[in-house]
Amino acid sequence: MRIEFVTTDTQAGANAAVAVLAHEAGALSTEARALNEAMGGALARAVAGGRFIGAKGQVLDLVAPSGLDAARVVLIGVDGGGATEPEVAEVAAAQAYQAIKATGVTELLLRMGGDAETAARVAYGVKLAAYRFDKYRTTEKAEKKPSVNLVRIAALDPAKAQKAFASLEAVADGVLFARDLVSEPANILHPEEFAARVKALETLGLEVEILGEAEMTKLGMGSLLGVGQGSRRESQLVVIRWNGAADKAAQPIAFVGKGVCFDTGGISIKPADGMEDMKWDMGGAAAVTGVMHALAGRKAKVNAVGVLGLVENMPDGNAQRPGDVVTSMSGQTIEVINTDAEGRLVLADALWYCQDRFKPKFMIDLATLTGAIIISLGHDFGGLFSNNDGLSEKLLSAGVAERETLWRLPLPAAYEKQIESPIADMKNIGGRPAGSITAALFLQKYVNGVPWAHLDIASTAWKKPSTDPTIPDGAAGFGVRLLNRLVADAYEG
Ligand code: BES
Ligand code: MN
Ligand code: ZN
Repeated sequence: MRIEFVTTDTQAGANAAVAVLAHEAGALSTEARALNEAMGGALARAVAGGRFIGAKGQVLDLVAPSGLDAARVVLIGVDGGGATEPEVAEVAAAQAYQAIKATGVTELLLRMGGDAETAARVAYGVKLAAYRFDKYRTTEKAEKKPSVNLVRIAALDPAKAQKAFASLEAVADGVLFARDLVSEPANILHPEEFAARVKALETLGLEVEILGEAEMTKLGMGSLLGVGQGSRRESQLVVIRWNGAADKAAQPIAFVGKGVCFDTGGISIKPADGMEDMKWDMGGAAAVTGVMHALAGRKAKVNAVGVLGLVENMPDGNAQRPGDVVTSMSGQTIEVINTDAEGRLVLADALWYCQDRFKPKFMIDLATLTGAIIISLGHDFGGLFSNNDGLSEKLLSAGVAERETLWRLPLPAAYEKQIESPIADMKNIGGRPAGSITAALFLQKYVNGVPWAHLDIASTAWKKPSTDPTIPDGAAGFGVRLLNRLVADAYEG
């Protein structure tokens, strides 16, 4: 699908839908009023004759409008009145695309008003909305596929809008890359394949290092390696660097991702029902990759590091057993009570390595860590845990701005009792109460003085059904937009 910016006098054409906005009480936007006039008032009559009141999320789809050179008119409700905010236009554009993508029209003309920034956000919304993971569908009938192949966006100054879109498009590319990783099945995307796909991003200007099991053994990463030891696939630790700051030696910011390419639970094996979902247990690593992709794509003025812990958690004759004791790179020992609490074991070494080597300004990890976070928050919030109020505030507001919302949960020292072990420095599960919190408290034992935040994204990495038109059902790419925004608002320049 192509996206183009065109002048505001552009006509839709016989194969196109044209989308415009409406506000409170069904009030038509300037662009909608112009269409209404050409249609002899039919748009206003359609509004008057039904329940469309311009409420946010409402869609009115008119087929074969007479007097107009267009196949359909789509009216999108956005509430409010007057000028439309860029972020509102972004969602409305995504919604217009979803409404007509499979109706048979081949083109969509978006007339949403606003300045170049708004037009760029409209393009961004459509690009995110049009994502589809269909590489393995070889027999899908043409009439089931999206029919739209060209989206045109009306702008006062198309060239200026195109320019404004460049950095947003880089972010969208990062989101889509993350979604592809998350959607890919685990027979294809094992740790080495994941690492190879990241390595290929060096063409963007990123530096990528890959450590295998031999190197990790030397570093003493017994915690991460224990998780992967039951797999035929080799575990990998990937380091991604983007040095975009004026001072290339300036202290970097750091992101760390849980990359469990498949989580069977190991010897503490999961039930069969729904186990296929565990192909997306690498959503944290995908988000870290996606944000590094975005930072490089838009040449962000920041030094950033991404560390990915990539493993596969399998039951096998060589798999680790409940009761095993492993020694992490930090020197701390862990009694592995449940081999399905593997994400924290991977992150223990990835976090330690990251701060030990890079001494970052802050360290944020992303992980599909606990089913309990879904029970706590549902699917509209990721869990935020942090030892730093300033960093938390910035993450919370970046989340709101990007519709990737977080909710902060506490790290009560008293609950550490739940992860005490009789034979090692800690155990890897804390029982049923506060499961997401005890997981975060475990991670905190591998944080050595740096400002740190942990995002438990088991609730948000995969959306089915999705409630945001910029996110099709399935992989959300959650975290890419959020972290990119954090960097753009607080750590660049
Ligand atoms: N990858 C899972 C968490 C998960 C569950 C993500 C559901 C997405 C959806 C994680 O490795 C896990 O298995 N956690 C266990 C921890 C328990 C054994 C303490 C869980 O949440 O049940
Ligand atoms: Mn698990
Ligand atoms: Zn897992």
